[in-house]
Amino acid sequence: MINDIFGSGRVMEWVRILINNNFRVIKSMIRENLDDKGDILDIGCGTGYFSRLFKFSKYVGIDSSLKYVGFANKKYGGKFFVMDANKMNFKNKLFDGVLMISFLHHLTDKELDGIFHDVKRVLKIEGKLIIIDPVPVYEQKNFLRKFIFRHDRGCYGRNKEQIFRLLEPYFNISSYAVKNSLTCTLQLFVCNNKLYKR
Ligand SMILES: C[S@@+](CC[C@H](N)C(=O)[O-])C[C@H]1O[C@@H](n2cnc3c(N)ncnc32)[C@H](O)[C@@H]1O
Repeated sequence: MINDIFGSGRVMEWVRILINNNFRVIKSMIRENLDDKGDILDIGCGTGYFSRLFKFSKYVGIDSSLKYVGFANKKYGGKFFVMDANKMNFKNKLFDGVLMISFLHHLTDKELDGIFHDVKRVLKIEGKLIIIDPVPVYEQKNFLRKFIFRHDRGCYGRNKEQIFRLLEPYFNISSYAVKNSLTCTLQLFVCNNKLYKR
């Protein structure tokens, strides 16, 4: 039933806005950590809600769902593409910022390793990767937050240490924060491209 409800872009966006209290916490996390002037790639962009924080000509969103991308292109303009994050076909060093919002907990460790490897490729040397994902159910502190995340379609909630382990081969994590929204405890990872010594 949850899959049927979220199958529609309109319902998906409406429910997510409601559950996330108009995304207040997520929007402030993005604004505080990512310059809106650079070229931005939003991976797992869903219905494209966060494109509103960036200049139209500087933003690209990708998602594996045809329905969500169709909705996003109708509502926010044609900057959205159906693309699997495991098979991105962007040129090297194209983006100043990459966003992954509520995306990680939908992917296995193996998939994420491939995706981080590729994000490193498409990110400029001085670029930033911003990840915002709920803390796992067992670390959510109150009943409502536990209940909501337990019914999320993503099966791979991870804690700070588990996500650090996945990121460390590719990125330096310059800051980490945890913030409560009304219905979710969110963790933020701000990552810089790691330079390898020759
Ligand atoms: C919870 S939604 C988050 C959407 C959006 N970032 C937001 O916060 O509103 C997770 C999104 O990841 C997308 N997704 C899952 N696996 C993917 C993959 N391998 N490649 C691209 N998108 C994927 C889903 O289709 C879904 O839209």
